[in-house]
Amino acid sequence: MADLDPLAPHAERLSKADLSGLVGRDEARDQALLLSAAGLTLDARKQRLDAEAWQALLDLLRQSDFEARRQKLFAGEVVNETEDRPALHTALRNPDRLKDAGTAERIRQARRATANFAMRAGEGEFLSGHPLKRVVNIGIGGSDLGPRFVYDALKAWRRDGVEARFVSNLDPADLEDALEGAEPETTLFCVTSKSFTTQETLMNAQAARAWLVSKLGETGVSGRFAAATAAPHKAREFGIEPSQIFPFEEGVGGRYSLWSAAGLVLEIVFGPEVFEAMHTGAREMDDHFLDAPLERNLPVAKALIDVWNRAGLRKLSRCVAAYSSRLERLPFYLQQLEMESLGKSVTREGETLGAHTAGQLVWGGRGSDVQHSFFQWLHQAPADAPVDFIALKSLATSRDERAKALTANLLAQGAALMAGRKGEGDLAAHKAMPGGRVSSTLLMDDLAPGALGALIALHEHKVFTEAVLYRLNPFDQWGVELGKQLARDIATGDVSAFDPATRDLIARLGL
Ligand code: F6P
Repeated sequence: MADLDPLAPHAERLSKADLSGLVGRDEARDQALLLSAAGLTLDARKQRLDAEAWQALLDLLRQSDFEARRQKLFAGEVVNETEDRPALHTALRNPDRLKDAGTAERIRQARRATANFAMRAGEGEFLSGHPLKRVVNIGIGGSDLGPRFVYDALKAWRRDGVEARFVSNLDPADLEDALEGAEPETTLFCVTSKSFTTQETLMNAQAARAWLVSKLGETGVSGRFAAATAAPHKAREFGIEPSQIFPFEEGVGGRYSLWSAAGLVLEIVFGPEVFEAMHTGAREMDDHFLDAPLERNLPVAKALIDVWNRAGLRKLSRCVAAYSSRLERLPFYLQQLEMESLGKSVTREGETLGAHTAGQLVWGGRGSDVQHSFFQWLHQAPADAPVDFIALKSLATSRDERAKALTANLLAQGAALMAGRKGEGDLAAHKAMPGGRVSSTLLMDDLAPGALGALIALHEHKVFTEAVLYRLNPFDQWGVELGKQLARDIATGDVSAFDPATRDLIARLGL
């Protein structure tokens, strides 16, 4: 795309440069690639960037409509043009910046309502006096991935005696697993669906209801369902008591919704204080994103690096390796956030994007496990991918030798990817590692609600900034619609328009 053309000469120069030689040579360059905010530090010194390329990236952003669009985002103006909506996730953390006082007040009320419900649910108030032991969240996509990721990450912060389970898939085994060992009397189901029309969620919610009825009879359903949705009337039609339906705004995108009532499962299991602490961490990152100069702005820097690797150096994918068991689900969460937001082929105006613009394919896993699976590919395959290492300072400074060893492994991998090694002896060719492979390290102080909130907000703003540079709309997802329609056609037997191979499979599977 013409707009990103100024990156080309820098990419040409730096793709051949010795990566190790770029580090530690220019103090100003190294300092520019080391930034901190809200308990997070990004070390991007092992990126294939020099001061000139970094300046070119900053210039591109300055010449774009970034400042105006960021302003619109926080003020709650329309930034999702194809759906004619604002994107209200930052307002969920701080409604005071909204232009529309009515929306701001609805958001405040909604927060009060979920906090109140979460307090009382934790005390078993809605289960006919039974203590609450399990909350089963039924939802998919943004109504699942965010809450599920946060639940795993903050497990240590759970209220005593309450656990969460998550059901998203239509495979009946998913609900079966979530109900394993569950007592119907002490179980609460949260149906989380912005649209309240999603097939997976509604079918699983019906199955959950049938389970409750089979155990406790029709009367047992009462109080054991809650809903978080932007379509409260549909939750009522489903049979959920109005007092247990928690609305959120149409302008809150699914993959940005965990800050809203869609995070109800979290607010119940952790308590409103922990949920609020997450908001506080995210708010800190919001303030930094708004106020810090572009050259010291953490989400901006992360966006520029990812744009550089995608559009400049043409790396299609990016690996996220989180060196923490509890962050295992981070890559899954980021897959939706980034790929549903940036996986587009046209600009906001509908012009075709260039082949090397728009978002990256995100993949990854948990360190050090992944060192024993796909890291071989990262070290020696002819293609390569930038790696984001996520490290917890609290593990590195722990007294536990295993935690220290885990972090030492992380540092060793980044160094090895960059330095490589000459092969020696008979198997020299096999043992040689080319090196020159880029990575960043994101240091989190600890796995606490505030730092986690900041981590999520950092990535939300990074995606927003990338979208501005690519000039695409990160808040719609038209690409998921066709598959949904075709699945409905198969279900209703309307298969004449399908290709012969699919028709044959439909027949073989007896659908
Ligand atoms: O199919 C994609 C999607 O529309 C996501 O964007 C969304 O998070 C998910 O489905 C679930 O939608 P809902 O919350 O409306 O059930």
